[in-house]
Amino acid sequence: PFIEPIPPLPALYTSFGFSIFALLATLYTIPAVGPAFIKANLKGVDLLKNDKVPIPESQGLVCASIYILLLILFIPFAFSDSISNFANARKTREGMSVTEFPHYQLSVYLSSLLSLLIATLLGFLDDVFDIRWRHKIPIPIIASIPLLMVYYAERGNTHVVVPIPLRPMFGTLMNLGPLYYIYMSLLSTFATNSFNILAGINGSEVSQALIIAVSVILNDLLYLPWPLDFRIPLHLLGNNAEVEIGGVWSAGMSYGSKQLVERHLFSLYFMLPMVAVCIGFMYHNWYPARAFPGDTLCYVTGMAFAVVGIQAHFSKTLLLFFLPQIFNFLLSCPQLFGLVPCPRHRVPRIDHTTNLLHPSKTLFLKPPSKLTSFVLRTFETLGLTDLTTHASTGMILEANNLTILNFFLLRLGPMNEKRLVQTLMCSQMAGSLLAFTVRYGLAGLVYDG
Ligand code: UD1
Ligand code: MG
Repeated sequence: PFIEPIPPLPALYTSFGFSIFALLATLYTIPAVGPAFIKANLKGVDLLKNDKVPIPESQGLVCASIYILLLILFIPFAFSDSISNFANARKTREGMSVTEFPHYQLSVYLSSLLSLLIATLLGFLDDVFDIRWRHKIPIPIIASIPLLMVYYAERGNTHVVVPIPLRPMFGTLMNLGPLYYIYMSLLSTFATNSFNILAGINGSEVSQALIIAVSVILNDLLYLPWPLDFRIPLHLLGNNAEVEIGGVWSAGMSYGSKQLVERHLFSLYFMLPMVAVCIGFMYHNWYPARAFPGDTLCYVTGMAFAVVGIQAHFSKTLLLFFLPQIFNFLLSCPQLFGLVPCPRHRVPRIDHTTNLLHPSKTLFLKPPSKLTSFVLRTFETLGLTDLTTHASTGMILEANNLTILNFFLLRLGPMNEKRLVQTLMCSQMAGSLLAFTVRYGLAGLVYDG
């Protein structure tokens, strides 16, 4: 089944080498530039600690800089086989037509860098000026235009595979047209903001990014041309490459095809250094934190996931890796959309005598509307929040802030900050495990491979 030549893997080893460098550079640079950040007033106090020494904030800028610079340095390596083909073609005086340079892939790479740069800029501006979250929603949408344009330039495939039960109604393939582009641009907004609203305890932002990046890497590895004996079990799983929405599988692409391998190599080039900077940063951000990521890290990591999901055509699988973030977002909606008051910080409350965290509360200064009361009571019934009501009138006076962190504390009882971030990481890993099960185990039930 592997008649087409597969791209050489040496660039992948180079990428791995670059990533080790990224790890060392992050480990070294974060503490080295800390004092300069504090001097520039990029600092914050740890809300959940007793001592109020300023901690350098928006250190995600360091991570983003190392990450993006290395991705730029890597460009010639990513195209090394095309470069050598070019050189050989000239030597043999063959026509250029046989050795076209893959301009399309180059534009994929460059537009991805552009989106990452915009995300960094936005994140940093947010750190410095505290942009209101309603105002920053549209910016990632604009930042995704280069990605979408490149996507369009390739084939503009906007079909989705319809699950078997719905096929009598919609047919096997459904063209979502412009809706598919709206979906992809919303994906970039969601990915960038979802880490930021799941933040506030040491290590939370970076650990989410790390676990998702590792999950993406594991998924990419499934598509590489492994030796035959590795491949066989994959064939048993069915040709799930065909299930991916937005892919060009409908044009007859099969597992192991050159194009599919190239896409997942591209994803690996972007994810390996991401894992490296995340590990490096996590070392300094782990409880008790000596450095804060700021919004910059949330935005740049979120955008990196949107980039690989869109450009390597696995945005549906990617969304599965965001299960805890989706849960947190849905839970947060009443506060994000103004139904329930949203304080500046929704992080859990600490009891300094026991060092344990408790769910934090939002106060109702005026009586909640009927809709608000209905939503909150429904959430309470589902065990998602805890309400304090007026003894005689039954009016809601207080509610737990609607975040996954407060939800964990509510369900599992008070725990310390380190334990809470470990719980969050476990839920993220469980989410990824579930994602793989759904993607490769259950997809065969709803789609034919
Ligand atoms: C988002 C959340 C907010 C949460 C905040 C914490 C929403 C809508 N907004 O706001 O509820 O309180 O992130 O990051 O959900 N900090 C710590 N420990 C940490 C990390 C951060 O105490 O491990 C504190 C520091 O004081 C730091 C501040 O959080 O200065 C950063 O908050 P910022 O990123 O500006 O908050 P938002 O992203 O606006
Ligand atoms: Mg933030």
